[in-house]
Amino acid sequence: MYSNLSNFSEDINNSFIIIFSIISFFLIAITITIIVFVVKYREKKNPVPTPIKGSVWLEIVWTVIPLGLVIGMFYYGWMAWIPMLSDAPDDAIEVKTTARMWSWLFEYENGKKTDTLYVPEGKPVELQMTSPDVLHSLYIPAYRIKRDIVPGRTTNIWFEPRKTGEYDLFCAEYCGLQHAYMITEVKVLTQEEFDKWYIDTTAVAERAATPGAEGLQILRMNGCVACHSLDGSKLVGPSYKGIWGHEVEVETNGDKRTLIVDEEYVRNSIYKPDDDIVVGYTKGLMRSYEGELTDEEVDKIITYLKTLSDKKE
Ligand code: CUA
Repeated sequence: MYSNLSNFSEDINNSFIIIFSIISFFLIAITITIIVFVVKYREKKNPVPTPIKGSVWLEIVWTVIPLGLVIGMFYYGWMAWIPMLSDAPDDAIEVKTTARMWSWLFEYENGKKTDTLYVPEGKPVELQMTSPDVLHSLYIPAYRIKRDIVPGRTTNIWFEPRKTGEYDLFCAEYCGLQHAYMITEVKVLTQEEFDKWYIDTTAVAERAATPGAEGLQILRMNGCVACHSLDGSKLVGPSYKGIWGHEVEVETNGDKRTLIVDEEYVRNSIYKPDDDIVVGYTKGLMRSYEGELTDEEVDKIITYLKTLSDKKE
């Protein structure tokens, strides 16, 4: 069923089947030989060991055959892998991909941003991948592709989806506490559906009209909600629910103090997260978003935080 979901699937599947068949054969053959020999040549039946003479012929056979098999396995693996590293076709759709602790962001050529990868069926797609923090790895098992994302570098991977549907996309490199949150989907649409989705900006307009909706979108796109819940539950960081305008006990330079969650506090917590740590949480887990989230975006986040609190000012 997974034989032809991307342009790479078939070759990878074949090389897997070839290698798996060879090693299975040897696993079974060697195990049987061991058992037979253990029974047949046990000490009780053969109290006096027979001296073994060398055999050039036998040595050649058991060197040449495995060598051929190993080279064969290498060949099929190599031939399946090389096309993945080759340049994407010129007509590939380019998607800027950001992997970070702990979310995915996909940016299209027209500026559209999502946390799910949308692609059209039958068109090559190239992901240009970067990470602002640590090592991640993009893995789409159904497409048989995987590639590391290294901070300070751009790595590329491309594929051509062959069938509409939804397939898992996740991070395959342990990248910290919430590594498991880095799971999303590739949604493969028909060309027609994709074109519609691509130019559709009604969702953006709706968001702009609802108070706080843009702020929520920013929190989602930047992975904030992986660590800060919206419903009051305790995750890596404090929840956003009901904090605005209320008192909070924080630790500043080793001293405890109480302050009000206001604009200054929120802004500073985003730009310099280690300055004031809410009591009961751990320092050093959040990275600074200075230079990534603009003042305007922080204002939108604040508008959203107000919608989660009984205090509005
Ligand atoms: Cu990112 Cu694991």
